[in-house]
Formats: sequence, C-alpha cells, structure tokens
Amino acid sequence: MDRIYIRGGRPLKGKIHICGAKNAALPLMAASLLTDGTLLLSNLPDLADISTMAHLLAELGVEITMKGGAPGRVNSGRVLGLTAETTSATTAPYDLVRKMRASVLVLGPLLARRGRARVSLPGGCAIGTRPVDLHLKALTALGAKIGIDEGYIEATAPKGLKGAHILFPMVTVGGTENALMAAVLAEGETVLANAAREPEVADLARCLVAMGAEIEGIGTGTLRIRGVEHLSGAKYTVVPDRIETGTYAVAAAITGGDVELVDARLELIGAVADTLTKAGAEVCETPGGLRVARTGVPLKGVDVTTGPFPGFPTDMQAQLMALMAVAEGDSEITETIFENRFTHVPELCRMGADITVHGGSAMVRGVPGLSGAPVMATDLRASVSLVLAGLAAEGETEITRVYHLDRGYERLEEKLSACGADVKRVRG
Ligand code: EPZ
Repeated sequence: MDRIYIRGGRPLKGKIHICGAKNAALPLMAASLLTDGTLLLSNLPDLADISTMAHLLAELGVEITMKGGAPGRVNSGRVLGLTAETTSATTAPYDLVRKMRASVLVLGPLLARRGRARVSLPGGCAIGTRPVDLHLKALTALGAKIGIDEGYIEATAPKGLKGAHILFPMVTVGGTENALMAAVLAEGETVLANAAREPEVADLARCLVAMGAEIEGIGTGTLRIRGVEHLSGAKYTVVPDRIETGTYAVAAAITGGDVELVDARLELIGAVADTLTKAGAEVCETPGGLRVARTGVPLKGVDVTTGPFPGFPTDMQAQLMALMAVAEGDSEITETIFENRFTHVPELCRMGADITVHGGSAMVRGVPGLSGAPVMATDLRASVSLVLAGLAAEGETEITRVYHLDRGYERLEEKLSACGADVKRVRG
C-alpha cells in the first residue's frame, strides 16, 4: 500500500491548479443515462471515484470514450463522452456501490429512462449511517414502486413517473440529485422544496438544462421542473472543486504561505473564505482564480458550525480543525451533517494537538506547534487534514491508507511539491 511522507515547516509558495469537482462530476456522469445522445463532459478530475463511476456506467451499457488521455486510463484525458444509446442493464451491483456510495445516483436516471432499476443498498460508511430513505421517498412520490430485496433497492415505474410536490424534511445533496434526474423525464410539473443548494446540484441542473430539461430556481432551495419527453446529448464543463480549493487554501494558511489557486472561484467557498479571513489569512480574487496568503500574521481560533450550502461545508471540517489545532486560542467546531466525522481527532492528537470531543462538537485548544508522527485515517477529508497537519508539523509525518486521498485529490503530492512542500509518495 502506498504511503505519503511529509517533512513539515516549509511555507507553500506558488500556483496550484484546481480540478473539476468530484462531487459534481459523479452525478453529471450518471445523467448520461437519461439520453441516447452523447454527453461530453470536460474538466473531469483524474480520481479513483471517477473511474468507479465509469466502470458502473459501462456495466449499465454506457459507451465511454475519452479524448486526449493515456490509453487504458479512463479519466486522464479529462474529456469523457458518455453514450447510453444501448443501455438495457438496470442493476448497480453491490461490489461497486460498496466501493462508492455515489453509485446510488444511477437510481433516478435508470428509473426515469428505463422504467426500472435494481441498485444495491449502500449500507453504512466511515462517517455515518448515511441512509437513502429520502431518495426513495422522493422517487415514490414521483410514482415509483420501491421494495428492498436481498440488499437491493428494487424500483419500477410501470406507468412512468409523474410530477409531484416534494418537500425534503432535511437537506440532502444526493437525494435532491436523484429526484431531479428522475423529475426531468416525469410527466408534468415537479417542485422540489428544501432542495440542496450546493454548487454541485446547481451544476447538475445546468447540465440537464443543456440537455433540454426545463428547470427553474437553479441554485435556490426550490427547484421547479417541467418534465420533457426526451433529453439530448450536450457538452458541459464541470465546475471547479470547492473542497479542493478550500483544502489548498488551508495549506497556504497553515504553512504561512502565499498560493494562487488557479481556476478557483470565490463564490463557491464563501463560508470557508470568511472563516480563513477571521483566522488571519488573506483571501482575494485574482484574474486567474484566488490568492490565499498568511504572512507574518498569527493564526487565531475561530468557532465554526457545519451546515448545508451556503453554510460551512462538512467536507472542510477536518481541514479546518488541523488549522485550528495550531491557532492561538480556542475554537469550537460543531459538526451537524454526519454523526461520525471526527476520526481525524485522535490522529491529530497523536501529532500533539489538544482536542476534546463532546457529542457533535470538538473543542480545539491551539498549541504552538505539532510534531510529525505515523498516522492514518478512515475517510477522504480526515486523511487530507493529516496531510495539512504534516505540512505544519516539525519532523516527519507518515500517512498510510493513501487510497482515501486518491479518491478525492488529484496529484496531491505533485501539487504540494511544486509549491515547495517536502512531500513524497512511496509506492508499495
Ligand atoms: C454528498 O453526500 C457528498 N457526496 C458528500 O461528500 C458531502 O459530505 C455531503 O453531500 C454533504 O455535503 C457526493 O456528492 C458524492 P447528503 P450525500 O444526502 O449526498 C442524511 C466527500 O468527502 N440523509 O446531503 O450522501 C445523511 O445521513 C463526501 O466528498 C438521510 O438521512 O449527503 C446526512 O446526515 C463525503 N437520508 C445528511 O442527510 C437520506 O436519504 C446529508 O447527506 C439522505 C441523506
């Protein structure tokens, strides 16, 4: 298994290119099931999760072509053509769904276009129980018949899907995306109230509009969809990754560096930018993206509570905690989205952080410095928070279970090294 070694203490300086967003790319790829035309997606990141989704779609009969990439690597070209012309299979098998929960996003499109879907129930995961009940309720409201059989969601729409008024009792990104992809081909009007406003949901909606869907209220909490009979192919460019942006912004802040995040967009990271500014960093727009710097200003503790967009993203909570671990003063970090998203805490403490967890809140008492240690984490964002801590720590940090990082960060060590970090990957 690969390992990453970091010797901390070097301020990052230079430019980092921000990739297309993983969490936008995954539903966009699933949307290819809605048409027999070709969906041409560009700015796709080169990540393990993108390959897993490509593999699943190929099993579902989607033909995948790639422009400009290395042979055998499905996503390295960053332009993927997806054509579901011949799609007839409707089963998303356990082996793939178990690997990546976002596989459940094929449910809505399969049901809308094929009238049936058999998708393995994802089960729990490292950050929480993560049920899909709200996806199923929304699809049931649209007229689907849903049962659970041998661990699989069995969904059919014998009479087709019909528009409905759906009020989500809580904000769900995936639930909104599945309902949206089903509603675009349903008969009549659908209203999705308390819909997720995350930029990845808006990106999906914009792509669906480019394919011929009729959607109003994009980017708001109420989506109005008038069903159409069929969608066509389209060309679409994936939005820049706001979590990758935020992660490298913290890398600049934690090392006292000065980094330009090329292609990053301020409006996607409003709450993160505000928090970093309060903590002592400078965040400003440049013609090519964003500049994040902290030069000579000490870090200050800031209290943060995660929430749905435009709140502070749960996917940035672990990274912020690494930053707060070396800030002056205390900060209280409250996680409201997932019940088990503090697995980085004991690892950060092994590096010298002073953090105590009480229920959904972590009290971080800033320490003057961290020290390198062998660490590992159980999910993507927790792992990258250890990379950030390693960049600030004295001595060497060894990070195992690097496959978590490879699910969400393209060429992480290359990007950091180019800005002066002492980071290397040892394969094995
Ligand atoms: C998406 O997950 C992201 N994944 C997650 O990113 C992100 O953390 C999360 O949204 C919140 O922003 C993708 O986009 C592929 P939810 P999703 O449905 O859609 C509960 C990362 O690190 N819920 O918005 O699964 C759920 O348990 C990842 O890149 C139900 O109770 O998240 C959670 O507490 C991890 N029933 C809350 O809602 C449901 O049917 C929000 O989950 C659905 C969700």
